[in-house]
Amino acid sequence: MSDYHIKNLEEYFQVYRRSVQDPESFWASIAEEHFVWQKKWDNVLSWDFTKPEIKWFEGAQLNITENCIDRHLATRGDKTAILFEPNDPNKEARHISYRELHDNVCRFANVLRSQGISKGDRVCIYLPMIPELAFSVLACARIGAIHSVVFAGFSATALATRINDSDCKMVITCDGSFRGNKIIDLKAIVDEALKNCPCVETVLVAKHINSNTPLKEGRDKWLHPLLNTAPKECIPETMAAEDPLFILYTSGSTGTPKGMVHTTAGYMVYTAYTFKNVFQYEEDEVYWCTADIGWITGHSYIIYGPLANGATTVMFEGVPSYPDWGRFWQIVEKHRVNQFYTAPTAIRALAKENLSFVERHDLSSLKVLGTVGEPINEEAWHWYNDNIGKKKSPVVDTWWQTETGGILISPIPFATPTIPTFATLPLPGIQPCLMDENSMEMDGLQVDGRLCIKFPWPSMARTIWGNHQRYKDTYFSAFENKYFTGDGALRDTTGYYRITGRVDDVIIVSGHNLGTAPIEDAVNEHPAVAESAIVGFPHDVKGNALYGYVILKETGEDRDHDNVRKEINQIITEHIGPIAKLDKIQFTSGLPKTRSGKIMRRILRKIACKDTSNLGDTSTLLNPEVVEDIMKNVV
Ligand code: WT7
Repeated sequence: MSDYHIKNLEEYFQVYRRSVQDPESFWASIAEEHFVWQKKWDNVLSWDFTKPEIKWFEGAQLNITENCIDRHLATRGDKTAILFEPNDPNKEARHISYRELHDNVCRFANVLRSQGISKGDRVCIYLPMIPELAFSVLACARIGAIHSVVFAGFSATALATRINDSDCKMVITCDGSFRGNKIIDLKAIVDEALKNCPCVETVLVAKHINSNTPLKEGRDKWLHPLLNTAPKECIPETMAAEDPLFILYTSGSTGTPKGMVHTTAGYMVYTAYTFKNVFQYEEDEVYWCTADIGWITGHSYIIYGPLANGATTVMFEGVPSYPDWGRFWQIVEKHRVNQFYTAPTAIRALAKENLSFVERHDLSSLKVLGTVGEPINEEAWHWYNDNIGKKKSPVVDTWWQTETGGILISPIPFATPTIPTFATLPLPGIQPCLMDENSMEMDGLQVDGRLCIKFPWPSMARTIWGNHQRYKDTYFSAFENKYFTGDGALRDTTGYYRITGRVDDVIIVSGHNLGTAPIEDAVNEHPAVAESAIVGFPHDVKGNALYGYVILKETGEDRDHDNVRKEINQIITEHIGPIAKLDKIQFTSGLPKTRSGKIMRRILRKIACKDTSNLGDTSTLLNPEVVEDIMKNVV
């Protein structure tokens, strides 16, 4: 029996037991047997959640691209590593073999070096889902530069904030992107952002849509001429186990986005291990995750995890609705996809469309169906299981976070019996616990509390870039000696976990994490707005949508409310991106506040959800009369 590949429930329980009894030898043997090291570690794990400081495989030296690319060349040189499916279904897919991946990444790495990038420098990548995105990520890793991928749907302001926070020296972008029948001028967004980013010296521009975007003299360079003349061998930089691999920003409930820092060895070992088990990937299978590489799902389960296993990973440039709602299933049929990994919001959107979009395609290749990003509702789960998996492909509801680097709670297909809406059991090495309101660990089954993890795992984020104190405050202060996830969960009578949702001011809209505070800050930028509060309310496709309560300044003049609504959403789009637009805006004369001035979001949430039968205790409110008023005018 191999610890690396679990095949049935009995094995899972045995492996799990070993992984918690002796985590160090468990992870050491996996690391030893399944990866290449330039130098082995001196110490498997040292940790202290009070500082917090976590180190895995200290003393080891490696390069993650040797593990994801070079070591496969002898046996899988001609195997497709990345299968690129363009936005336009009439254009040919591109099969990039491991050898071609190697050449492309090496050339790109040499270009980065020739442009003055070296180990430890930060490089911001702002690209659509095209092969250059994967190449650039791996090229950074090859030379030890720290990549910071920013999702190409973010606005110029959001991009600038992220570039400046981590002092990026370079931005890699392209002339534009295709999304369905839309063309987006990415380069113009970069130009706008860079008006406020003095740290950026160079911009590499990939040609993708053949636009004539102007290049800024001395700063911007076309990528492809540089790549074409760069040598296709590049000696990988020797990295220490705990050297940062990348920064990826995620929203917090307050303040600026948090640059989560992931390091090299532990992240590699854990993402590879979980990819193998959660998707039961076998040689010659085709795996497809529909996420964007701008999110952690894409980092861990489009690039690093699959490639470390020598897998074929599909990269799709387009959207599920173009040219029609059958696009996903057409791709599954065309490439004989075996594992398909998507988000509940996509499943709900697809389920709304006519079933004929599904039925006209042969989905018999499918073996495992994954979901991630938010709790999946029962109806969506059944639609996915019945119509896509034909009740034969297990649905794996994978729970994890940007901060966790990899999947922590998930069924192992063909081993763990699934129950709709349950992420089920912790993967090997993961020790979850539930905490009650008095910070006591809740033993036993059939309990509901705050989800924490009480022991380190290899791919946990090590810090927040430039702000270790915030890392400590956010994740290690709520409960002593535990990592706090920000999620609530319940454990049923069999020990299965069901994630019930965020317990903080983060709202997940279409699988995107949005903090309320940054959106409120954007709304308050509107000259007519005095104050605002944002809450979530249920939405049948997005999971949650945003509801804004807005107090306008008293100016005596009459305002066109619809105009103000439009302008508010315009400002949000500029500051954050269209994903953060408000679905409903209610103008109000006041907001319910506690005596200490804190907005009582609990009440606003209930009103937005039209669940006002029991508003709970309002006795501590400074202004209980506004509650009536808000209820009367609910949108
Ligand atoms: C938050 C993390 C991990 C990649 C995508 C999101 C929610 C994620 C599930 C799930 C219920 C889930 C949690 C978590 N979440 N997966 N299977 N069931 N909730 O990463 O943007 O960092 O968001 O997404 O609330 O804390 P992220």
